[in-house]
Amino acid sequence: MSARLFARALLAPRALVPAHAPRALPAPRFLVGAHARWSSQVAHKARKEKFLHDFSMAGKVALVTGGARGLGNEFCRAFIRSGCTSLAIVDLKEDEATESAKALIAEACTGSDMDPADYSVIGIGCDVSSELSVQQAFRRVMDTYGRVDSVVASAGIVENYAAFDYPFDRIKRLYDINVHGAFFTAREAARNMIPQGGGAIVLVASMSANIVNIPQPQTPYNAAKAAVKHMAASLAVEWAKKGVRVNCLSPGYMLTKLTKTILAHDEELKRTWESLTPMGRMGEPEDLSGAIVFLASDASRFMTGSEIRVDGGYCCV
Ligand SMILES: NC(=O)c1ccc[n+]([C@@H]2O[C@H](COP(=O)([O-])OP(=O)(O)OC[C@H]3O[C@@H](n4cnc5c(N)ncnc54)[C@H](O)[C@@H]3O)[C@@H](O)[C@H]2O)c1
Repeated sequence: MSARLFARALLAPRALVPAHAPRALPAPRFLVGAHARWSSQVAHKARKEKFLHDFSMAGKVALVTGGARGLGNEFCRAFIRSGCTSLAIVDLKEDEATESAKALIAEACTGSDMDPADYSVIGIGCDVSSELSVQQAFRRVMDTYGRVDSVVASAGIVENYAAFDYPFDRIKRLYDINVHGAFFTAREAARNMIPQGGGAIVLVASMSANIVNIPQPQTPYNAAKAAVKHMAASLAVEWAKKGVRVNCLSPGYMLTKLTKTILAHDEELKRTWESLTPMGRMGEPEDLSGAIVFLASDASRFMTGSEIRVDGGYCCV
């Protein structure tokens, strides 16, 4: 390259891209005419056919607790986008679960060649803190689909009280939902999975299972999530030879109704959380899609009793 061309290349205007942005591949400007058409056909074909089939959720019956909104709802969406057509959304209020089911089907059919009749997504009302209610929800799923392959326990609550101020009835309620609810869900899932040859269970814990969040006080929540993480490992060992895998997914700070309620009157807290997260932002629910599909599908077939943290690097520092 001549010195003049080199200087011109150096001075050429560049797009302003933040340093942390993923680098885009250079546009293939040299492709013209027939070659360009061929290249885009090949890319299209590759997109359509070249993926690791183990990640597919096609043919699997999935059940997600807390699936009407927040992370649970995003897990449902991820399963549908990965080919699942039989799904039970389990949540406190049956009407909200049913509305979510309808919205999910409508979204799945928009701009695709799928028809609403291709999907069976049902909403089930259930309080996961009641074992009877969980058993009834699973009975409906078994009556409807005859099997259940992938189960996610996402229903959960958080509250911030200093230890001296935390009313005991509220602590008990938190454990009833976050710990006993996850246990009832996992146990009922395994009861139905073992006779059919196996399945995958994902318990949603939190980075709080590993670290102590600051500045907000939430000791019972953190202890509950540590319990869920160890519950996944313990159940995994109990059921390992029976074909049932149990793993846990631990998100960092994610933007959902749960956290938006806490942040509604505290912009400063959001800035604190972001500054404590190496990636400098809170997660979007969609940031968990890859991890949940991995854990719920055959892609993770030799993995059980493990935790995947998706926290923007929070627990590393
Ligand atoms: N949002 C975060 O930053 C974050 C981070 C780490 C872990 N988590 C965990 O992820 C899970 C989902 O959190 P989210 O942010 O989506 O919360 P969310 O409040 O947005 O949604 C929780 C869902 O669970 C349902 N639910 C609550 N109690 C229930 C019960 N007793 N029975 C059945 N359903 C019930 C709610 O109706 C709701 O649909 C929770 O276990 C939470 O602890 C969340």
